[in-house]
Amino acid sequence: HAAEAQRTDLMTITRHVLNEQGRHPESRGDFTILLSHIVLGCKFVASAVNKAGLAKLIGLAGDTNGEEQKKLDVLSNEVFVKALVSSGRTCVLVSEENEEAIIVDAPLRGNHEFDKIMVTVSSHQKLHGYCVCFDPLDGSSNIDCGVSIGTIFGIYMIKDKDNVTLDDVLQPGTDMLAAGYCMYGSSCTLVLSTGNGVNGFTLDPSLGEFILTHPNIKIPNIGKIYSVNEGNAKNWDAPTAKFVEKCKFPQDGSPSKSLRYIGSMVADVHRTLLYGGIFLYPADQKSPNGKLRVLYEVFPMSFLMEQAGGQAFTGKQRALELVPRKIHDRSPIFLGSYDDVEDIKALYASES
Ligand code: AHG
Ligand code: MN
Ligand code: MN
Ligand code: MN
Repeated sequence: HAAEAQRTDLMTITRHVLNEQGRHPESRGDFTILLSHIVLGCKFVASAVNKAGLAKLIGLAGDTNGEEQKKLDVLSNEVFVKALVSSGRTCVLVSEENEEAIIVDAPLRGNHEFDKIMVTVSSHQKLHGYCVCFDPLDGSSNIDCGVSIGTIFGIYMIKDKDNVTLDDVLQPGTDMLAAGYCMYGSSCTLVLSTGNGVNGFTLDPSLGEFILTHPNIKIPNIGKIYSVNEGNAKNWDAPTAKFVEKCKFPQDGSPSKSLRYIGSMVADVHRTLLYGGIFLYPADQKSPNGKLRVLYEVFPMSFLMEQAGGQAFTGKQRALELVPRKIHDRSPIFLGSYDDVEDIKALYASES
């Protein structure tokens, strides 16, 4: 049997999401439209990241009118906000880079002319409106040295498009419709769940398309790696300290774990998802709620972990059951392989 010929039947991310939509006959493609605008943002950032090392050079060549190069995180945020609003399917946006939530102007929440026609056909065929919570550029301390960075997003469906409030985003993570991240690494990978498992797509730069390369990702039940900023150890609480001690000096005959920490949540979580293990950003005495943000870091990653067969825990409860009170709320987080998260849960349980 000859070597497999080059693949000619490509599962693009759009084709994949349209297939998934086939299971929801009421859906009219609004989610596909929203997602294609997110994908556009990711492609833009991927291209900007690839050119970042050359920015000074490009700047020198074009520096005729003294125009200053925008910082990559500011640029990424602008691109995502504009791409999301222009999808015509968003109502509220929460970005790490904007102090206030963005309430999208009513005329931009959907094509109202079309809406009116559809309403006469069938009331449940109104355009769907969405809330998107996102971290446009995660791992910003790694930009200048060329280490992997990413974008994280979580998507909610809006209840009433004509009456949009902050409460539409201050919902528990269990209400999320979809979540994902894009990692700008040695290749550009977009990992997505619409609540039916997790799939990974890799950008083929020659096609400009994300192609399904990691179908139905499942995280191993137990892993050989733990991932944490150990420089904060002196301020940890007892369960976290005990857990990390156990990773290094296991008393039950199990092998000790390796430590890997990149400092970009997207990259650390991506490795955890594919190889197994645990990622933690615990509380400490200086930051009683840890560092990571509930709406656009903790929730999307917890959703993906659960969808891949892993778990996500805050030290007190299942992470997705948190109810944020403010849009930039933080929470401690322990996420990854099912059995590894069971271990930290047991340590917290035995403490109280
Ligand atoms: P951001 O770059 O979006 O502000 O997020 C940085 C986050 C996250 O990516 C990472 O897991 C964490 O900060 C690392 O924090 P430490 O430097 O405290 O370890
Ligand atoms: Mn971040
Ligand atoms: Mn960020
Ligand atoms: Mn930041």
